[in-house]
Amino acid sequence: MSAQRESWSARSGFILAAIGSAVGLGNIWRFPYVSYENGGGAFFVPYLIALMTAGFPLLFLDYVVGQKYKGAPPTAYRRMIKSAEGIGWWQVLVCFIVGIFYAPILSWAGHYILYAFSHAWGEDTESFFSHSYLQSGKGLDFTFVPHLFVGLVIVWILALIIMYGGIRKGVELANKICIPLLIVMFSVLVARAVMLPGAIEGLNTFFTPDWTKMANPKVWLAAYGHVFFSMSIGFGIMVTYASYLNRNANLTGSGLVVGFANSSFELLAGIGIFSVLGFMAQASGVPVSEVVKGSIGLAFVAFPKIISTMGDAGTIVGILFFGSLFVAGITSIVSILQVPISALQDKFGWSHKKSVTVVGGASAVLSLALFSTRTAITFVDVIDNFTNNIGVVFGAVLSIIWVTWFNRPVMEKLLTHINAISSFKVGKGWVFMLTVVTPLSLIIALVLSIKSLLTEGYGDYDFVTQVVFGWGVVAFFAVGAFILTGIKAHPSHENTDKES
Ligand code: ALA
Repeated sequence: MSAQRESWSARSGFILAAIGSAVGLGNIWRFPYVSYENGGGAFFVPYLIALMTAGFPLLFLDYVVGQKYKGAPPTAYRRMIKSAEGIGWWQVLVCFIVGIFYAPILSWAGHYILYAFSHAWGEDTESFFSHSYLQSGKGLDFTFVPHLFVGLVIVWILALIIMYGGIRKGVELANKICIPLLIVMFSVLVARAVMLPGAIEGLNTFFTPDWTKMANPKVWLAAYGHVFFSMSIGFGIMVTYASYLNRNANLTGSGLVVGFANSSFELLAGIGIFSVLGFMAQASGVPVSEVVKGSIGLAFVAFPKIISTMGDAGTIVGILFFGSLFVAGITSIVSILQVPISALQDKFGWSHKKSVTVVGGASAVLSLALFSTRTAITFVDVIDNFTNNIGVVFGAVLSIIWVTWFNRPVMEKLLTHINAISSFKVGKGWVFMLTVVTPLSLIIALVLSIKSLLTEGYGDYDFVTQVVFGWGVVAFFAVGAFILTGIKAHPSHENTDKES
């Protein structure tokens, strides 16, 4: 038999870790630029709709599956419905890839904490980020960039130290230190940002919906993809974290705390960033929409600009911003890595140490190979887009319809279970959302987006980049899931009496 499954020391440990997982680069780095790209204030409406129609319903589903069937997605899904193991592996592979491109952004944030001391980015922060720091080349350029390599090595060492500590001494401890630190740093930062002259203009941009954008399916898919990424749902993280909960843990109560904490952070991040954009717009006498390109580099271009504009006072703003990004990201990357680590332990009966070594080693090597090069930002952008908007959303849809459309009695069982142990009862509304509203909206958004990716491609990237690092990653999820499902498992993987 494999070793006794680890557990959280208390429900509060789980809630803290789940908040730590949810609040991450998604909130501070990704949300502002994704909303900026998808119409600024206009994005707010699809985001809220996605949160209510899919975010919370799926969060509760992930929790109940993980807690009831006590496993990472492949094992938990298999114990629930035998044919569902492959969906679990799809989600595990999504996490594996997310971990690989998450680390470089953390390492950029780490470097930028140091740069904040001397405002090393100079006047033209956009050029500094692309040319001096990332040394981005044209097309695919695998030239080695030593400082990117060093930053990544440090991030991977830190992540692995936490992972080797296990659930209580690693993940829980890291969250106990990081979350209070993050709350203090981020609150001071946002409070400072909203007091800047011109902040109100930025906030108006953020909060004013442009209804014409609502007709664009890409905006909707971006909203769903982002909500899943940000809440850490639909790709196995919450299933895995919930699997370390005890048998009678209050699931929905915890979910509400985690979900609202996550969205509050996202809102705060949006308010902080758009206040800064408003300030910059006023300082340079142009509209907010023209202040900076809404792109993946938004956080690394906009913030340095304002830090420099603020002079010495900006230094502390810079440290707080990039420090928040780093601290929030560390607690998320450990949750992402925990999914493949736990999945391999569950399926093959491996020790925790062996699993951390294999997953951590493979992730670190791939991450170093791809992101220590001049093409780092292209890889991040393309892999992030295909992984989130197709990988995460497709995995989420599959897990939902497998239960609600094809295995109806399982859904009834989950409903009874979640209500028996939770304070906030879910009812027919939850089932209706998961059976009708969530899958239909996801399927429509997914089909339209795939169509547009096939006909128009993604961004300005060349064909090879999109095929290899975009569609190739999607193919990797499918083929990998198929192979991993077929490999012979340790007997405990089948053990349905583990069900609680
Ligand atoms: N939920 C994590 C984030 O928002 C992955 O970054």
